[in-house]
Amino acid sequence: MSAAMTSPAGMQGEPLLDIRNLSKSFGEDRSLLQVATGKPARVLQAVRNVSLSVKPGETLGVVGESGCGKSTLGRCIAGLYDPSAGEVLWQGKPLTAIGDRKAASRQIQMIFQDPYSSLNPRMTVEQTLAEVLKAHGLVDGGKARAERVDELLLTVGLPPRLKDRLPHALSGGQRQRVSIARALAVQPQLIVADEPVSALDASVQAQIINLFEELRDRFGIAFVFIAHDLNVVRHISHRIAVMYLGEVVELSEADALFDAQRHPYTKALLSAIPWPDPERRTAAAGLEGELPDPLNPPAGCSFSTRCAWVEEACRARHPDLDPYSNGHLVRCRRMHEIA
Ligand SMILES: Nc1ncnc2c1ncn2[C@@H]1O[C@H](COP(=O)(O)OP(=O)(O)OP(=O)(O)O)[C@@H](O)[C@H]1O
Ligand SMILES: [Mg+2]
Repeated sequence: MSAAMTSPAGMQGEPLLDIRNLSKSFGEDRSLLQVATGKPARVLQAVRNVSLSVKPGETLGVVGESGCGKSTLGRCIAGLYDPSAGEVLWQGKPLTAIGDRKAASRQIQMIFQDPYSSLNPRMTVEQTLAEVLKAHGLVDGGKARAERVDELLLTVGLPPRLKDRLPHALSGGQRQRVSIARALAVQPQLIVADEPVSALDASVQAQIINLFEELRDRFGIAFVFIAHDLNVVRHISHRIAVMYLGEVVELSEADALFDAQRHPYTKALLSAIPWPDPERRTAAAGLEGELPDPLNPPAGCSFSTRCAWVEEACRARHPDLDPYSNGHLVRCRRMHEIA
C-alpha cells in the first residue's frame, strides 16, 4: 500500500512546518579586482522563493539534480542556515523567533548522507548517544542513560552489544542507524533526512527506508526526505516536491506525481515513462544539455534551455507555481497540454 493511503489521522491538522517564500543566497566574495573595477559581486540564489508545508506525521519527499538547492533548503528548515528572505514557521511561529534555540533544535533533527563524517570517529556508539542525552538533560543517572542507549539501539535495529564500537568498526548501514538513533534520542517531531541512503548499497538502502517508515508509523515523526532519485522517495513519501535550479517546479501527492506528472522536468526524471511523440523520446530518455549556471539562470522559465516542450513565450516570462488540480502545483505554462 502506498504511503498516501496510510496517512496518519494527525496529518489532517495544522502544519507542523510552514515554509513561506524562502530564499537563500550565497554571495561570492568581492575580490580586489571587483572592488577596483566596480563590478558587483555575483550572488548565487541556491533556493528561490520556496513555499512548502509539512503536517505532523507526514513525509515530504524533495527531489532534483545535484545543485538544485535540496541541502540548502534542508539546512534552512533545520535552522542550520538563516534564510536570506522568507520565513520558516514551526507550529505557527517563526523559527528564528523561538526563544529557546536548544528546545527548538530538539524538535527538528537532521540526518546526513555520510554518517561517517557526522559521527565523531573517537567516540563509541554509547558515548555518542549518551552525550546527546546528557546535553539535553533527558535522562538522569548513568544507569537510566545506559538503558536508554540500549533502547535506542534496539529501536533502530542494532544489537546493544555494538555500543562499545567506534564508527570505523561499523558498516555503512550500521553507522547510518547510529546517526538515526542519535536523532531519535531527543524525540524530534520532524527529521530532515538529506540523502540518507545515497551512500549505501541498494539492499541496505531498502532496509534503512523501511526503518524510516517504521519510525514514522511508531512515533508519528514527520520527515522531509531529500533524494536525487525519485524512486527512492516514491514509496515513503505522502507528497513530493520536485526542485530545479532552486525552485519547486512540481508539488503533488506521490501517486499523482508518478501517474500524471505535468512538468517536463519531472517527466524527464521519470525517463522510463514513454513519451507520445517519438521526437521527444530522446529528451525523455535522459536530461539533455547541461544544468544552467546557477549564477546566471535563464530568463523566463528556468527549465527552458533543456525542455522538449519549449516555446518562445516560455523564454519570455518566468512561470508561477500554479495549481493544476487540487493539491497539485506545477510551474509550467503548458501544463495542460503535457500528457
Ligand atoms: N555554503 C555555500 N556557499 C556557496 N554556495 C553554496 C553553498 N552551499 C551550496 N552552494 C551552492 O548552492 C547551490 C545549491 O547547493 P545544494 O548543496 O543545496 O544543492 P543540492 O541539491 O543539495 O545538491 P546535491 O544533490 O549535490 O547534494 C549549488 O549551486 C551550490 O554550489
Ligand atoms: Mg545536497
